[in-house]
Amino acid sequence: MSRPQFLTNPSFPRTRMRRNRQTDWSRRLVRENTLSVDDLVWPVFVLDGENRREPVASMPGVERLSIDLLLDAVGEAYELGVPAIDLFPYTDDTLKTPCAKEAYNKDNLVCRAVRAIKAKYPDLGVITDVALDPYNSDGHDGLVQDGVILNDETVEILCQQALVQAEAGCDVVSPSDMMDGRMGLIRDTLDGAGYQHVQMISYAAKYASAYYGPFRDAVGSGGSLGKGDKKTYQMDPANSDEAIHETGLDVGEGADMFMVKPGLPYLDIIRRIKDSFGLPVAAYHVSGEYAMLKAATQNGWLDNDRTVLETLMCFKRAGADVIFTYCAVEAAKLLQK
Ligand code: PBG
Repeated sequence: MSRPQFLTNPSFPRTRMRRNRQTDWSRRLVRENTLSVDDLVWPVFVLDGENRREPVASMPGVERLSIDLLLDAVGEAYELGVPAIDLFPYTDDTLKTPCAKEAYNKDNLVCRAVRAIKAKYPDLGVITDVALDPYNSDGHDGLVQDGVILNDETVEILCQQALVQAEAGCDVVSPSDMMDGRMGLIRDTLDGAGYQHVQMISYAAKYASAYYGPFRDAVGSGGSLGKGDKKTYQMDPANSDEAIHETGLDVGEGADMFMVKPGLPYLDIIRRIKDSFGLPVAAYHVSGEYAMLKAATQNGWLDNDRTVLETLMCFKRAGADVIFTYCAVEAAKLLQK
């Protein structure tokens, strides 16, 4: 029998790639990566009041919860073995000002939520977001003057914000604002106040992305930002070397873990950072990615459970150690099956 030229693979038929794939036990043996509940961080949205629960329309299955209800929700995550949560506040418009002073109010919603959660679940990791957008009347992560996002003035406020969060008892501060030099100055501020043990996750490579839209609905910053964008501080999606430069700076400034955000469209960046530094890398499977997944699965176009687990596994394969995902609780349940 004459075979076409492309089939004359010299290692065939001795080498057959399908041999290792033919049974479940064998596929398990040769599997290179594993996904476990230990990899997951659950971002949650908190709002003021009691017994309040508001669905986020663009994020099916995600709700803003008042602290009392949030305690039950994070309790479930804790019982399922999710190591940590990441807290984001929905701030009442009346508390938003151009100088974002609610950000460093010791009794703001985030600080109250941290105290309540740590009192009930001391072993659950609590991560707080450091950025001004929930508190700023213009929806930016920094102070705005004449249309310019001020860097150094913003960093001073971020230091105060991180400090009240540390005082409230958070385990990790995670500055998501992309101002220059903030990691080092926040580290100095925390250390100076006796919070050397508080960890820092740097959003080292955070891109100016359209995928954050649903999140801005969830925290209520989208309306204030309007048609504005964050391109003068978040990274250009066209860039990759710059992510290495950013991460290198944050290594020097004392960050403990390094985040890439968004997630799936940026798996190449995760891999490059992991290979370049060999340090703990976190991926953020962001709101827009979640919205796309849920839109398709709710329409019956994709199988929800398989898509969720495959997506999260891809982060592991790309080199992520930690995955921030709104799917954390459902994934934890799926992983128990
Ligand atoms: C802002 C912040 C954003 C997210 C986390 N922190 C949005 C933004 O930069 O505008 C996005 C998270 C998501 O989309 O899930 N400090």
